[in-house]
Amino acid sequence: MVAADLCILDGTLDAFIAAFATLRPHCGSGSHTTPVMRTQPRPLLLVVDDEQPVLRVVERLAAKVGFDVVTCGSGSEAMRALLRKPADLAMLDLRMPDVNGLDLLRQIRSTVPSCEVILMTAHAAVDSAVEAIKRGAREYLTKPFDFDRLREVLVEIREELERRAQVVELESQVARQLEFCGMMGRSPVMQELFSLIQRLAPHAKVVLISGETGTGKELAARAFHQAGPRRTRPFVTINCSTVVDTLFETELFGHVRGAFTGAVESKQGLFEAAQGGTLFLDEIGELPLSVQAKLLRALEYGEVQRIGSLQLKKVDVAVIAATNRDVRAEVAAGRFRDDLFYRLNVVDVTLPPLRDRREDIPYLTAAFMRDCAGRMRKPLNGLTHAAERLLLNARWDGNVRELKNVIERACMLVEGTTVSERELAGVFGPDLPATPARGRSAEPAGRATEGAAPLDEIEREHILEVLRQVKGNRMKAAKVLGISRRALYRRLERHQLGGEAPRPSSVRKSS
Ligand SMILES: Nc1ncnc2c1ncn2[C@@H]1O[C@H](COP(=O)(O)OP(=O)(O)OP(=O)(O)O)[C@@H](O)[C@H]1O
Ligand SMILES: [Mg+2]
Repeated sequence: MVAADLCILDGTLDAFIAAFATLRPHCGSGSHTTPVMRTQPRPLLLVVDDEQPVLRVVERLAAKVGFDVVTCGSGSEAMRALLRKPADLAMLDLRMPDVNGLDLLRQIRSTVPSCEVILMTAHAAVDSAVEAIKRGAREYLTKPFDFDRLREVLVEIREELERRAQVVELESQVARQLEFCGMMGRSPVMQELFSLIQRLAPHAKVVLISGETGTGKELAARAFHQAGPRRTRPFVTINCSTVVDTLFETELFGHVRGAFTGAVESKQGLFEAAQGGTLFLDEIGELPLSVQAKLLRALEYGEVQRIGSLQLKKVDVAVIAATNRDVRAEVAAGRFRDDLFYRLNVVDVTLPPLRDRREDIPYLTAAFMRDCAGRMRKPLNGLTHAAERLLLNARWDGNVRELKNVIERACMLVEGTTVSERELAGVFGPDLPATPARGRSAEPAGRATEGAAPLDEIEREHILEVLRQVKGNRMKAAKVLGISRRALYRRLERHQLGGEAPRPSSVRKSS
C-alpha cells in the first residue's frame, strides 16, 4: 500500500504497474489492458460579480491558466448557470445587488458540493473572511486583486482538480492491471487469493467457495475455470436456490423418455452438458438432502445416471460449489451431508468481505467509475474527499456488488464531472458515520471539562485566530503556525473548517 502510494507521489506509477504486472498471476485468457491516459476537459470556472471589469479581468486570467470560464452578473443568473452546467470552481463577489455572496456560497455548497468556492470582496472584513471559511469557501480574495496571488490560487486549484482526475484514472489503471480473470483487488489478501486460484486451477476438480453475498464467489468460480485446462470447454451454472426440489435430479442428471409423467422427451442433465468443462453449483447449501447423495456419487465415481435409465454415464466435469452459508453449521444441524461436505471441501477458498480489505475500495471505485463513464458517455473524473470518505467508511454488507451498484447509481445521478457526497446520500444505512459537515458542528454535550478547554478546542480557536490575522490566506497562516500547508489543511479538515486540500493519494490512503 505505502510503496504504491509513494510511487504515485513520485510519478513512477507506470513503473510500479509494470513491476507488479510481471508478478501478478495471469488468467488463462491472457487478457491484458494497456494503460491509457485520457485527456481531461478543462475545468469550468464560474465568475459572479456585478462589475463587468472584474468579470473581464478574471475571465482573461483564468482562461490563460487553463479554465473554461462562464461569467454572470448576478446571483440568480449564477445559480441558473450552475444548474445548467455544474462548475468546478466558483468565484463570488461578496456584495451584489440581488444576493449576498455568503448566501450564494451556501446555496452552491448544498446544490453542487463538488464546486470549490472563492469569495472576492472590495470591503475586506475579518468577520466575513472567517465566516466564508467556516461555510466552506476555499479562499477569500480582496479587490483590487493581487494578480500574482490570484494566478497562484487558480493554478493551485486547477492542479488539484487535475490531480483528482489523475488519481481516479491511475487507480482504475492499477485495478485493471492487477485484475485476475475479471476480479480486481490490490489488497494482499486478494493478491494471495489470485495466486492461490492460479496454482490450484490446473489440478483442482472439486472446489468449495464460500463468502458473504457479493464478495465475488461466482467471479472466483469463473476464474478457476478460466485459469485451468478446461477454459475452452463449457462453464455451466445452476443456482440451487432457484430450482424446485422435485426438479433437481432431472436438472443435474437428466431423464429418459417416459421416466415420469410428463417426460415426453429424453433430457440431458447439466453434468452431461458440462462434459469436459466446469459445473458451477451456486448456493449449494440449498441442495435437498436427497439430491446430495446422488451428487456425492457423481463426484466420487465421475458417473451419472439419467432418471429412468439403468445406464451409468462417465462424465469428466470439474465441480465448483459456492455458498454464503456456514456449511459446517449446516452439517452440524443435519441439513448438509458430512460426507459431501468433506468431498467438496478438498479445495476450500474463502472470499473476504469488503470491510476487511478496505484498501481495495478506491481501486474498485475508480474502475467502476471508469466503466460507467464509458458506458454513460459522461466525462466523470473524480470524487470529492467527502465522497471518498463515505465510501471508505461504509459498512458494505452487500460487499463488492453493493459498491458497484452505489457507484453506478452515483454516476447516473451526477450532473458535473465529480461525484460528491450528494450523489451518495440516501444509499447508506443509518449506521454510517455522517459526512463531516463543512460548517462548525454543534459541540457534543458535556465535551468540555469545567474550567479547562480541551486541547482540540484550543488548537481550533488558535487556527481561527491566525486565519483572522492573515485575512484567510492559508499559505500565510501555515507559515505563522509553523506547519506545512498540507498539515494546516488536515487540521482544518479535522476541525471541520472546510479544509479541502490538494491531497496526493498517499495522504488519502494512509489516513
Ligand atoms: N473482486 C472483484 N472485482 C470486480 N468486480 C467484482 C469483484 N467481486 C465482485 N465483483 C462484482 O460484484 C458483483 C457480485 O459478484 P458475484 O456475483 O461474483 O458475487 P457472489 O459472491 O456470487 O454473490 P452472491 O452470494 O450474492 O451470489 C458482480 O457484478 C461482480 O462482477
Ligand atoms: Mg453468486
